[in-house]
Amino acid sequence: MKKIKDTIEKIEKSCLKSCNTAKSADELEQIRVEYLGRSGKIAALMSTLKNCSLEEKRELGPLLNTLKTLLQETYETHKKRIDAKSVSKQLFDVTAYRPHQLRGSTHIYTQLIHELSTIFISMGYTVADGPEVETEYYNFTTLNIPEDHPARDSHDTFWLCTPDRLLRTHTSSVQAHEMEKTTPPLAVFAPGRAYRSEATDATHDFMFTQGEILLINTDVSISNLLATAQEFLQAFFGKNDLKIRVRPGYFPFVEPGLEIDGSCPFCTTGCAICKKTGWIELLGSGLVHPKVLQYSGIDPEKYSGFALGFGIERLAMIKYGINDIRLFHSSNISFMNQF
Ligand code: PHE
Repeated sequence: MKKIKDTIEKIEKSCLKSCNTAKSADELEQIRVEYLGRSGKIAALMSTLKNCSLEEKRELGPLLNTLKTLLQETYETHKKRIDAKSVSKQLFDVTAYRPHQLRGSTHIYTQLIHELSTIFISMGYTVADGPEVETEYYNFTTLNIPEDHPARDSHDTFWLCTPDRLLRTHTSSVQAHEMEKTTPPLAVFAPGRAYRSEATDATHDFMFTQGEILLINTDVSISNLLATAQEFLQAFFGKNDLKIRVRPGYFPFVEPGLEIDGSCPFCTTGCAICKKTGWIELLGSGLVHPKVLQYSGIDPEKYSGFALGFGIERLAMIKYGINDIRLFHSSNISFMNQF
């Protein structure tokens, strides 16, 4: 009996001491298991009661219960103390804030897409989105690029393991989605990522962003296309006197297809950016091929349209003098901080 009373005293002292000095939640948990756990010291004492006389039980029982409650309360108090400490550490890590050193800003992609959308919205276009994981139908077939067409090879496609799924190679894949959804007139701007399985260098990347506009209405002509292209480039480069020139270009989904160059925004006599020619290749475009309209159930006798596409990084590289396309998704803080 005396022995048990001594043990109760010892346990109380040592448990309180351990709780007071515990520094982490793990340490405290070990203490809880050691004293209050199923095979802990209190449980062991309780089981020794079985062999005691009734009288002894009457005296020792309440003592043990008081001890148990005391240890339980002590544990709870210290748990709160330790939890509060770790939460305050997470929420108020004062060293994380370094004034004037790290400034947050929107990513250049976000800024560009916002700027381009603003230009096209001001011309009456709406912004459209399409899936990056595409089917052959939307990426190729509906764009007048049938299975055996050599243009499919030039697209260096990332084919996925799932049959009939690929990463879209251009944002032209949004065209049919939009034409199927809406009856003309239709004016959409579709910005977004495109993927090509090719080696990367300063001007090529396996992932890049394109912007594409599509206009379908009655009597859409090349003049509408050229006026829109010039207006857009003038707004984007902030140069009201920017001129355009047109060369033939081949894209299966437009007829005729045009490559549009802009006069160099930086010089009049030739510089390194325009390679001393005064012109820079900027846009791919053309009048929507009648077969493309037909695929989406639009009558080519009644409607016509134009499509115009461009690499968003390419335009930004020219505008801001960026010399490597891979910087855009490099997470390079000093590059991003400039925008
Ligand atoms: N989809 C073409 C490409 O990726 C660009 C383009 C868009 C050309 C619209 C003509 C019309 O190269």
